[in-house]
Amino acid sequence: MSNKRVDTTRLQAMSRAYTESAILWAALDLNLFSAVAQGANDDQAVAEAIGVSRLNAERLVVCCLSLGLLEQGEGGLRNPPDVARYLDESEPTFAGPWMTFTRRDVPGWFAIADKMTGGQEPSLLGMYDDMTVESARKYHQATYSIGMGAGRRFARQVDLTGRTRMLDLGGGSGAYSINVVQAYPEMTAVVLDLPPVVEVTKEFLESNNVADRVTTIGGDFTKTNFPTDCDVIVMASNLPIYDSAVIASIVAKAHAALLPGGEMHLIGEMLTEDRTGPVDAAMWGMNELLCGGRGRAHTTSECVEYFEQAGFGQVALHEFIPGVLQRLSGLKSA
Ligand SMILES: C[S@@+](CC[C@H](N)C(=O)[O-])C[C@H]1O[C@@H](n2cnc3c(N)ncnc32)[C@H](O)[C@@H]1O
Repeated sequence: MSNKRVDTTRLQAMSRAYTESAILWAALDLNLFSAVAQGANDDQAVAEAIGVSRLNAERLVVCCLSLGLLEQGEGGLRNPPDVARYLDESEPTFAGPWMTFTRRDVPGWFAIADKMTGGQEPSLLGMYDDMTVESARKYHQATYSIGMGAGRRFARQVDLTGRTRMLDLGGGSGAYSINVVQAYPEMTAVVLDLPPVVEVTKEFLESNNVADRVTTIGGDFTKTNFPTDCDVIVMASNLPIYDSAVIASIVAKAHAALLPGGEMHLIGEMLTEDRTGPVDAAMWGMNELLCGGRGRAHTTSECVEYFEQAGFGQVALHEFIPGVLQRLSGLKSA
């Protein structure tokens, strides 16, 4: 046994970690970061700008300073670079909808033990069973606010020169397709997503002026046949929603549908081999308990296996967003 002294500090911090989410959301609710961006640089100015008492402004400012959500500079309070870029409502890069995306899940997270022992049978589609156009619109306002950055990164990171058409499985807002056709003017794309979702996809395609080059298919990718005229398939941010059998069958179906010489990219949160993290990958697996689905966190080697069993060659793992998302790529033989 190790002689290293242990104490309770790590466990205490974890037992109150929920307070960090609560402060972030309160600051967003009150538009704190926009107020600071507009010049509210001390407790009094913050109090006036966000309409709370001086005491409450001080409480919030102190919490945000301690979490690194605000900084104290020479000119007083200021937003650190990531907060300035993503949490100030007046910025086009504002990602507030994504930051509060999982807020409705809070009661579920605090009822995990009950849900685990409650005996409710999970379903294949989980939360997607009850998706409506309205709920899809709300959901994809959030995914769009973060997905456009990921889509831009994909179009930069992957050289699609010479490719002609991309199938975007579970493409949601169409963020990946929008960026790909913008970066590659000779390409077209098709987003396959659930029927209520593609109604919303069309709105994003219109507002990005790509509706003539990106079409949609309303369907369920666990059942619907895939188009066979694509030389690129991307499946992004839906890995933990499904179990191994379903992901393996989707990857196999994608391999069969791709044109010879085509490529597939699976982007998602993946666990390391020893399953010690990243925490986020583990948590998205747990999220499926709350959603009533059968999904789980997949390890990188499980994902490699889905690709190899489907027949993909040159299977390679790339760090897509360091520490958050992996990208697995594979090539169908020509
Ligand atoms: C987290 S979103 C990711 C959206 C997009 N790929 C992105 O990265 O911005 C997951 C998407 O997968 C879609 N999806 C989940 N299960 C599906 C299924 N069985 N068939 C079609 N789409 C599905 C959801 O409707 C949703 O749009």
